[in-house]
Amino acid sequence: MLVLSFLPVLPLLAVAIPTQQPFLHPNGETNKINPLKHLSAISPFYIPTEQPTPLPPNCELDRVSLLIRHSSIMGNDDEFEQTMQPFIEKIGNMDQSKFPQEGLWKFLNDWDTPIKEETLEAVSPQGKKDAKFLGKYIRDQYQPLFPPKKKTSTKKDKNKTPYKVWTASSTRDIDTAKSYIKGGFPSHQSGDDGEGDGEVVQLVKVPNKARDWDRSLTPHKACDTFEKLSSLEPANKWLAVYAPKVIERLRGVIPKVADELIDQDILAMQMLCGYESIAVGHSHFCHLFTDEEWLDVEYYFDVRFHYMMGYGSSLSPYLGMPWVKTAKHLLAGKDTKGGDEDGHTPNQDDEGTLSALKKGGKLPEPKLPPNATHTQLLHPSFTHRESPAFVAVFLNLFNSSSHSHPASEIPPLDRRVDDRAWRTSHLVSFLGHVALERFHCKGDKEEYVRAVVNGRAEKMSGCEDGKEGSCRWKTFDNWVDERAERWGDWESVCEK
Ligand SMILES: *[C@@H]1O[C@H](CO)[C@@H](O)[C@H](O)[C@H]1NC(C)=O
Ligand SMILES: *[C@@H]1O[C@H](CO)[C@@H](O)[C@H](O)[C@H]1NC(C)=O
Repeated sequence: MLVLSFLPVLPLLAVAIPTQQPFLHPNGETNKINPLKHLSAISPFYIPTEQPTPLPPNCELDRVSLLIRHSSIMGNDDEFEQTMQPFIEKIGNMDQSKFPQEGLWKFLNDWDTPIKEETLEAVSPQGKKDAKFLGKYIRDQYQPLFPPKKKTSTKKDKNKTPYKVWTASSTRDIDTAKSYIKGGFPSHQSGDDGEGDGEVVQLVKVPNKARDWDRSLTPHKACDTFEKLSSLEPANKWLAVYAPKVIERLRGVIPKVADELIDQDILAMQMLCGYESIAVGHSHFCHLFTDEEWLDVEYYFDVRFHYMMGYGSSLSPYLGMPWVKTAKHLLAGKDTKGGDEDGHTPNQDDEGTLSALKKGGKLPEPKLPPNATHTQLLHPSFTHRESPAFVAVFLNLFNSSSHSHPASEIPPLDRRVDDRAWRTSHLVSFLGHVALERFHCKGDKEEYVRAVVNGRAEKMSGCEDGKEGSCRWKTFDNWVDERAERWGDWESVCEK
């Protein structure tokens, strides 16, 4: 029987979050929070709970679909250009005599940031380790849903369809998926570089800009009306509330530097805490702010992403629909035999892959859309930060009226709301993932499905008539169809 409680608990945080405790702030007090868990999309991989929410007693998983954000990168282009680079240049050009000769800020005298234009967007070495760890972790959690590890006979089984791992086509997604495969499969199945052996395991690249939804993991990249800039406006309104207070505090610590700082520079330093930790394992900037100031920047990101890819954008449920529909189809899978439907003979697929790999070629493009019938029981797909957020909206997660501040409620910009349900640090951190798990229970004919975000079960409001906050499969089936009808026509809302 598959229950989730046998998971190792301790190593989770140790692996991904560099150890930099204690976090001292300038008053000499120790921070209670670890800033790396409060940086939203810049947080390195971590599991917010100590262990994943177990299934209800006597229940067993049947199928799982997983949507996973890529692992930690050496910096994001936009954040670098808009925020970090101007700060890095400001410090580089500043008269050295303004820097303090002792204390926490002394490092400015010879600070050289590892965050550079040339390596932006590349998965960091630690990011690859984290993704490999995730592969092992997912294998531990869902072992019975994986193909067996043992070597098959030397005679190739032409009728076997490889187990597929889907990835969006950006390098950071592909690199993450390869590391995941290396962590989750034995080396004779993972292929040398994690591209899969093409026989048991196959990595499939899904083109980013494919317009037909069932082929794309990144519908926003094919959506002309999707944009990221307008969400900066409300976020910067909030920044204008908290950052001046930080600058004011810094006047007492580094007066000559503080005189030249603007709001964006405070944000830049807090971002650098995340990216420098990702790049080299530590950052001076993680030690310079109070708990309150970290919670303020976390709120900044939550405001921004509410509007960019959360409940504050009318596009979100449209752009979350494709993956959920595909996942529902895969979870429904009636298949018991080796072949795929649609008149497709699986060995064409195999041979295509094998010969492409032998030629040292690139990853195969999907011959079958992800919504074709696939035989496998676990369906992982790798993508960008936007997709788990869109999917959360489509599934109505964090939006129950029982929350004091449900995710769809407008976030005030003059104060921070601490008991809000929309916490993007828990949703879109690097390797953040949303799972849809289909399961059944002993002595019970019903089938159920539940949503799990980074190990924690979350209610799909409106689809919660199952055990322990899950949803009955039949209810889910209809509920998704209804929502897909309501938010189905994404191509028309995406036209400029
Ligand atoms: C997959 O998606 C395509 C395009 O929307 C649709 O025409 C087809 O019927 C879908 N296939 C299945 C099996 O749902
Ligand atoms: C979020 O909850 C509100 C209040 O219940 C509801 O009106 C709204 O439709 C929900 N949003 C989505 C995307 O389902």
